[in-house]
Amino acid sequence: MYRYAAVVLFLASGIVFQLSHGVEVTVSDSEGKLCIYANLMVNFSVSYEEVGNKSSTAEFELPSKVTTEGSDCNVTSSLLKLNFGGHTWSVNFTNNGDKYQADSITFSYDLSNKAVFPNAALNETLSVSFKPEITGVAKDTCYSCKSRDTFESDTVNQTLWDVLIQAFVSNNSKCESCKCSFSITSTQTSAPTPTTTPTPTTTPTPTLPTPAVGVYSIKPDVNGTACLLANFGLRIGLKQAEEMNFDPNGTTTSGKCGDNSSDLVLVSKTMTIMLTFTNDTKKFRLHALNITGKTSVVFSEANTNLSLWEAAVGASYMCNKEQNYTITSMLTLFTFNLRVQPFGVRKGVFSTAHECSLDDTSILIPIIVGAALAGLILIVVVAYVIGRRKTYVGYQTL
Ligand SMILES: *[C@@H]1O[C@H](CO)[C@@H](O)[C@H](O)[C@H]1NC(C)=O
Ligand SMILES: *[C@@H]1O[C@H](CO)[C@@H](O)[C@H](O)[C@H]1NC(C)=O
Ligand SMILES: *[C@@H]1O[C@H](CO)[C@@H](O)[C@H](O)[C@H]1NC(C)=O
Ligand SMILES: *[C@@H]1O[C@H](CO)[C@@H](O)[C@H](O)[C@H]1NC(C)=O
Ligand SMILES: *[C@@H]1O[C@H](CO)[C@@H](O)[C@H](O)[C@H]1NC(C)=O
Ligand SMILES: *[C@@H]1O[C@H](CO)[C@@H](O)[C@H](O)[C@H]1NC(C)=O
Ligand SMILES: *[C@@H]1O[C@H](CO)[C@@H](O)[C@H](O)[C@H]1NC(C)=O
Ligand SMILES: *[C@@H]1O[C@H](CO)[C@@H](O)[C@H](O)[C@H]1NC(C)=O
Ligand SMILES: *[C@@H]1O[C@H](CO)[C@@H](O)[C@H](O)[C@H]1NC(C)=O
Ligand SMILES: *[C@@H]1O[C@H](CO)[C@@H](O)[C@H](O)[C@H]1NC(C)=O
Ligand SMILES: *[C@@H]1O[C@H](CO)[C@@H](O)[C@H](O)[C@H]1NC(C)=O
Ligand SMILES: *[C@@H]1O[C@H](CO)[C@@H](O)[C@H](O)[C@H]1NC(C)=O
Repeated sequence: MYRYAAVVLFLASGIVFQLSHGVEVTVSDSEGKLCIYANLMVNFSVSYEEVGNKSSTAEFELPSKVTTEGSDCNVTSSLLKLNFGGHTWSVNFTNNGDKYQADSITFSYDLSNKAVFPNAALNETLSVSFKPEITGVAKDTCYSCKSRDTFESDTVNQTLWDVLIQAFVSNNSKCESCKCSFSITSTQTSAPTPTTTPTPTTTPTPTLPTPAVGVYSIKPDVNGTACLLANFGLRIGLKQAEEMNFDPNGTTTSGKCGDNSSDLVLVSKTMTIMLTFTNDTKKFRLHALNITGKTSVVFSEANTNLSLWEAAVGASYMCNKEQNYTITSMLTLFTFNLRVQPFGVRKGVFSTAHECSLDDTSILIPIIVGAALAGLILIVVVAYVIGRRKTYVGYQTL
């Protein structure tokens, strides 16, 4: 049943993906190595003067057939230039070490293209520039913004959506399943007509690999045994943006153990995650969670009134299956192979686990044991009845 649902979901998202597939371009440097990868959609709305002193507006989309002539890359700066119908749409990028940014988007339109600008009074090519908010993108990652981002000037409005751009591609390999930076701020300021905004739930999630399971512990002193243990793989989902995995590699762990409250703080290259566990009436739970995106993904989402991962103090909480939790309206937390024990850790190892009800094993094992017991009882009863009958029959013939 689940499997069919998954197939249907997959097909549905596949169709959506087909429909919203944008204009895909690649640029190679002078050595023939891939240096820019982009997949995006742009709508233009241009107001121009018609003959006879009339004002008119032309609306058109970035066509699927564009050329990238004039695009160029070197180590420090790159230019993505898309040419179509005498018009050009270009973005220039600069690389400052481990991050890169887009400096400006320039759109030049040729009014002598009368198919696009009927009755235009002029034959000139005009240009407008916009300042995009594509900054601080980590090297070897991409910038992604699914929702509409509108830039306005006196004469031109351009709307970008379903944007994925990677500049300064190294090693000739574009990041397909790598994490992207998201435009959170611009999604909130754009989209004046939210009714036509592509809903984030229908956008296909990229095939993100299962996050690596991190093994974290807090030791009250250097030589002591751990007082808090936590193993989990984490993924966060931000509204209007794609999901990303928390990378345990290179993460620093800190925190403290208390009688009634314990903290675990995980600092990775991209995120800081603070978990607060409380112990009240001999049960513990995850009470507060604060996740801050530090680099290209700038966000801070916290909920200080949670009741998750509950178990008895002295036991651990375990959930192997993928779980998702709505932390705030903006943030969803996904956990994989979760096991935590924030209080009463003995000898530095996990105590008996309280398993989440959704784990297959926790439901299946009692069922299997129960079924086996029932079968055993049945066999005993049948054997007893047969045995009694035999002896009874035996007595009668005597
Ligand atoms: C750009 O958008 C603004 C606000 O929606 C609108 O008032 C203006 O007419 C638009 N300009 C063009 C050229 O479409
Ligand atoms: C064009 O229209 C503007 C106002 O829209 C007016 O001021 C101007 O005189 C007109 N020019 C011509 C040549 O009709
Ligand atoms: C872009 O333009 C096309 C046709 O001009 C239109 O069908 C589509 O709805 C527009 N999309 C957005 C997001 O404005
Ligand atoms: C890279 O290109 C930019 C502009 O095209 C140029 O100003 C800069 O000198 C170039 N840098 C190198 C190292 O070639
Ligand atoms: C990017 O383009 C803008 C406008 O065309 C220009 O002013 C700026 O100098 C360019 N930046 C770089 C680094 O080339
Ligand atoms: C624009 O160019 C076309 C053909 O190239 C010409 O027929 C037309 O008169 C020109 N219009 C203006 C306003 O110069
Ligand atoms: C570059 O690509 C090769 C093969 O595709 C891979 O083995 C190597 O690890 C990559 N290096 C980096 C720095 O990504
Ligand atoms: C930890 O152990 C080392 C030797 O293994 C010892 O020198 C040090 O004093 C101990 N530190 C504490 C805080 O017990
Ligand atoms: C962790 O990252 C370092 C460099 O950042 C790398 O050398 C190492 O292989 C990574 N380890 C794992 C398990 O991915
Ligand atoms: C948990 O809190 C109770 C009181 O509510 C306390 O008696 C117990 O010692 C605490 N457990 C731990 C491991 O600190
Ligand atoms: C979450 O953490 C950030 C960064 O440390 C901090 O600025 C913010 O106040 C915290 N939010 C809450 C609700 O504690
Ligand atoms: C969250 O989990 C529920 C079932 O536990 C599932 O139906 C739902 O699709 C999940 N949501 C996401 C965004 O994965």
